[in-house]
Amino acid sequence: MQVTVFHDERILARTLAAHIASALTAKPDLVLGLPTGRTPIRLYHQLGAMHAKGQVDFSRATTFNLDEFLGIPPGHPGSYRAFMQEHLFSRINIPAERINVLNGAATDPRAECARYESAIAAAGGIDVQILGIGTNGHIGFNEPARELVGATHRVELKTSTRRSNAALFGGDANAVPREALSMGMATILKGRRIVMIATGKSKAGCIERVVNGSITTKLPASFLQLHRDVELVLDEAAAAAISAAPPAGAKALIHEDSKHSN
Ligand code: F6R
Repeated sequence: MQVTVFHDERILARTLAAHIASALTAKPDLVLGLPTGRTPIRLYHQLGAMHAKGQVDFSRATTFNLDEFLGIPPGHPGSYRAFMQEHLFSRINIPAERINVLNGAATDPRAECARYESAIAAAGGIDVQILGIGTNGHIGFNEPARELVGATHRVELKTSTRRSNAALFGGDANAVPREALSMGMATILKGRRIVMIATGKSKAGCIERVVNGSITTKLPASFLQLHRDVELVLDEAAAAAISAAPPAGAKALIHEDSKHSN
């Protein structure tokens, strides 16, 4: 597990966006797995800014989002599809037909999950899976549980998760759907390269457990330890609990100088 620590969120987003642009230059038909949430917003806006300057080309790329609420259509303002449109897809030149988000309005959710798995396989699998992480260690909507599900599946959302998504539904946690569709842990771990972003001090505790703790279904992100090409990209606040004692086996712990963060 490679751990890279940046001085702040801004330099993190700029560096990661530049890496994605380079990956797209090397492989224009790159397949990207994408999260929603607060964490990737800067990255998405940075990719949009780079696209406006002709520095990144998504014309042959394909994307697969991790998850979507169940019971709302893609056009619903609270949907993750709408979030992605606002923060990324409207800012770059990705063709609509190469954007893949689970359909929360599917009449047969099980068939929709199977369709998604087939679509990922048909695209050749995910080259770079970008992830965020919940403070309880969830990734996608794979919440801590006694058992985790491998494939894309239907999931009941925890109250805490509905609360943290309330902003998308006018601040009303009760308006957040009770269920969602999510890539499963195996789907995520099949990504050829995984880059997990965590920023802010609220993530410091779970990052420490992801890096130094045991692999447990109680902390879904701990399964990333099993992957051969995973990088945790952190700001200093999220790295606070591991900075004092750099993790055993970490390939790099890099502190970027703040003077580069313009
Ligand atoms: C959403 C997703 C979630 C978020 C996580 C962190 O697509 O994958 O696992 O990454 O809930 O959310 P933020 O970034 O808002 O802290």
